[in-house]
Amino acid sequence: MSRFVWTADLAIDGSQIDFQHRQLLEAMADLDEALLAGQPQRVAEVVSFLHLYAETHFADEERVLALIAWPGLERHRQLHAAFRARLGELDRCCRWGDRQAARALLAFLEDWLLGHIRGADREFAAEVRALRQRQQPGQTAGT
Ligand SMILES: [Fe+2]
Ligand SMILES: [Fe+2]
Repeated sequence: MSRFVWTADLAIDGSQIDFQHRQLLEAMADLDEALLAGQPQRVAEVVSFLHLYAETHFADEERVLALIAWPGLERHRQLHAAFRARLGELDRCCRWGDRQAARALLAFLEDWLLGHIRGADREFAAEVRALRQRQQPGQTAGT
């Protein structure tokens, strides 16, 4: 079984943020599979998807943080920017079919992204859940 499997400790808001984190995890599982299967074309496609989707996710997450007036928004933006810079470097190497770079990228994603979701993203979970409750009263967030 893939090690990139959604677990309850990754839940943040029971809504959009969780959905996007799941998509990122699934793409990491795809990348792992493509690397194991030795499929460079698929590796390149998944890396490119991961890059684009991470951008979308960060922009959406930062919008939500602005909505709740999260005091750590600037700091959080900086964390995303540092990730983006490193991802850009590794992505460029992957485009040239460097398998080693693709493995390094996956290891980086596993370490950084999962650590980020369990750490920095978790810090605003309660506030974003409260926002979701206000947006959709009657629904239980976090399930
Ligand atoms: Fe996130
Ligand atoms: Fe984040």
